[in-house]
Amino acid sequence: MEIALIPGDGIGPEVTAAAMAVVAAATRASGRSVTTETLPWSADHFLATGITIPQDGYTMLRQFDAVFVGALGDPRVPDNRHARDILLGMRFELDLYVNYRPVRLLDERLCPLKDRKPADVDFVVFRENTEGLYVGVGGRFKAGTADEVAIQEEVNTYKGVHRIVRHAFEFAQTTGRTRVCMADKSNAMTDGHALWQRVFKELAPEYPAIQPRHVYIDALALYLVQDPSQFDVIVTNNLFGDIITDLGAALQGGLGMAASGNLHPGRTSMFEPVHGSAPPLAGKNVANPIGAILSAAMMLEYLGAHDEAGAMEAAVAKAVRDRNGTSDIGGALGTRETGDLIAGLVRTSVSR
Ligand code: NAD
Ligand code: IPM
Ligand code: MN
Repeated sequence: MEIALIPGDGIGPEVTAAAMAVVAAATRASGRSVTTETLPWSADHFLATGITIPQDGYTMLRQFDAVFVGALGDPRVPDNRHARDILLGMRFELDLYVNYRPVRLLDERLCPLKDRKPADVDFVVFRENTEGLYVGVGGRFKAGTADEVAIQEEVNTYKGVHRIVRHAFEFAQTTGRTRVCMADKSNAMTDGHALWQRVFKELAPEYPAIQPRHVYIDALALYLVQDPSQFDVIVTNNLFGDIITDLGAALQGGLGMAASGNLHPGRTSMFEPVHGSAPPLAGKNVANPIGAILSAAMMLEYLGAHDEAGAMEAAVAKAVRDRNGTSDIGGALGTRETGDLIAGLVRTSVSR
């Protein structure tokens, strides 16, 4: 398999190096060939060349089996232009309409909620990834004056809402999960989110074995803290999904633990940890690489390398249980050492 690697900014290069070391260990042990091409697209590259992503960048990415990304975001690029072109650009141009963000607690001591066991925190969020408030429709009038007007429109299309809600129901059905919850703000956003209501009501009857439920997004934030065990599959729009998955990351031990896949089923897809570039941690070998390692496992699973992906997940679970990890999860290891330890566990468990 051929992977395009975009380490990006801040802690991105460190966590992707650790994750790729684990991928190398898993695939060497199984005998599967993997080639990686590293692309320099980042804040450094943009500041040095003025290029965020080359003109043929997205076309080039389609030649790979998958894209693996660290993080993008740098205080030296205050308008975040490079991240918009690279990260959001990939989501839009490769039409990666499913942002798949599982929330799984691996060890009860990592949950900030009291008395919650791993079985209580095990749900997935499907975040719509190609429209909503992220499309950049709008503009500023009289910018910088006391009369400034700033408009940013939310785009919801029938096709866009339908395909993500369909994906959530299909995922629930094929993985044996019995509850799908759609979260919107249709009580206030009575046009845009009425479309979400319509689509959800249209599709739910096609899945009689699945309990459909609607909650408003503000209540979802409340329920996720009060009792996350009531959720199996959550589907929501782009911005709400962004926010609620940071809350989800907290439930599983912090942003360092959370994985994601930006998918267009059947096409070149992109995998990245949920966290950002964490500038204060960069270059110190302290960032938790587990979110990146679990994202890499998700990528291998997506590409059909089931044994390798399973071994990577099991190795992460063991390391976490044994308190072998970075300080954010109560360990004493560095980023690199955590990656090496997990790679070692994988090496001994994968066979040809
Ligand atoms: P962040 O995710 O970088 O950090 C939020 C908090 O989580 C910080 O306290 C940080 O120290 C901690 N954290 C994050 N990753 C961690 C890890 N691997 N191990 C241990 N702790 C970790 O979010 P932010 O501070 O809001 O944003 C920083 C920059 O990252 C911004 O430029 C933002 O736009 C960008 N960003 C990028 C992505 C992405 O590339 N997908 C995601 C989120 C934020
Ligand atoms: C994420 C990030 C991005 C988003 C930012 C960096 C634009 O927060 O992937 O969760 O909002 O989608
Ligand atoms: Mn986010």
